[in-house]
Amino acid sequence: MEKKIHDSVLELVGNTPMVRLNKITAGVASEILVKLEYMNPSGSLKDRIAVEMINEAEKSGRIKPGDTIIESSTGNTGFALSTIGRLKGYNVTIYETMPGKAGGEKEKMMKNVGAEVRLMEPDDIDHLKERSIAGSEVELPGRQLCLEDEQADSSVWWARQFSNEDNVKAHHVTAREILDQTDGHVDVFVQSIGTGGSLLGIGEALKEACPNVKVIGIQPASSKELWHPGMDFPVTDIKGGIVSRMLKSGAVDELVQITDIEAREMTHRLWKEEGLYCGVSSGANVYFAMREARKTDKKLRIVTLLCDHMNRYLTEERYVT
Ligand SMILES: Cc1ncc(COP(=O)(O)O)c(C=O)c1O
Repeated sequence: MEKKIHDSVLELVGNTPMVRLNKITAGVASEILVKLEYMNPSGSLKDRIAVEMINEAEKSGRIKPGDTIIESSTGNTGFALSTIGRLKGYNVTIYETMPGKAGGEKEKMMKNVGAEVRLMEPDDIDHLKERSIAGSEVELPGRQLCLEDEQADSSVWWARQFSNEDNVKAHHVTAREILDQTDGHVDVFVQSIGTGGSLLGIGEALKEACPNVKVIGIQPASSKELWHPGMDFPVTDIKGGIVSRMLKSGAVDELVQITDIEAREMTHRLWKEEGLYCGVSSGANVYFAMREARKTDKKLRIVTLLCDHMNRYLTEERYVT
C-alpha cells in the first residue's frame, strides 16, 4: 500500500508520473507519453543516479558520512548530489560548468543546500552558448580536477557519473517503471544524452522486454563529436565510460542532433499548451518524439522523459518566452 506519510524526502525519488500529450499531438495518430522526471525531489532525473551511486559506494565501503563527494556537472547532477549527499551527511563539492547566467543560477541552488561550488569558466563562451541541451563535453575540465582531488585525499570520492555503472543501473529501475506504466508496450523511446546513463539504462532494459522498440538518442547539434551507433569511442580517465558502452551496446538504434532553437521552441509549447514545466532537453525529446509520430499513420506509443524543471531556466533571457 502506498505510504501516506514518508519518513524522508529520499523516499520520493523515482516513481514519477506519466502523462499523455494532448495539444502538441493534434493531427498525429501516435500517442506521446512523457514521464515527469522533473517531479523528483531536486527537480531532475539525476536524483535517481545520486541515490544509487551514493548507496553503492557506501555498501562497498568506499565512503562513509563525513567524507566528501565531488563531481563535475552542468548542474542537475551537481544539485542532486548536493541534495542527497547533504541529507546523508556528506560534504559535497561541485565543479559547476554551465555557460552564461545559468551557471550562476545553479551555483546559488547548490550553495543554498550546503554544497561548495567551484564555478568553472568555459574558455569559449560564444561557442558553448549552443550547448545548453544536456551536452556533457563542457564537464571535461572539471572532471580532470575531480581526478586530481580524489588522488590527493582518500576521504574524497568522485562519483564519476560519466563512467559509473550505477548511473546506468539506476535507470533500469526507470525502465521498469515505464514498462509498468505502459503495460509493457513501448514502440519508440527517445532520450537526450549527457552521460548517456539514462539512454543506455532505459534502452537496454526496454529492448529486453520489447525487442522491437526503437531507441533514439539525441545530441546537441553543436557537439564537437557527432556519434553513430557502433562507432569506437576511446576511454580515458575522464572520458568515454558509459558513452563508449552505449555506442557498442546495440541498445540504441539511431542518434540524432538538435539545435538549441528547436529544443527551446518545443519547450515553450510544453509550458504553454500542456502545462508541463520542464527544461530544454525535454523540449528536445518531444521534438524528436513528434518527428517519429509524423512519419506514420499508425498509432505508435512513443515514450520520452521530461528530464528537469523549468525553474532552472529563468535567468537566461533566451529561455524565457
Ligand atoms: C536536463 C538534462 N537532460 C538530459 C540529461 C541526460 O542524462 P544522462 O546523463 O542520463 O545522459 C541530462 C544530464 O546531463 C540533463 O541534465
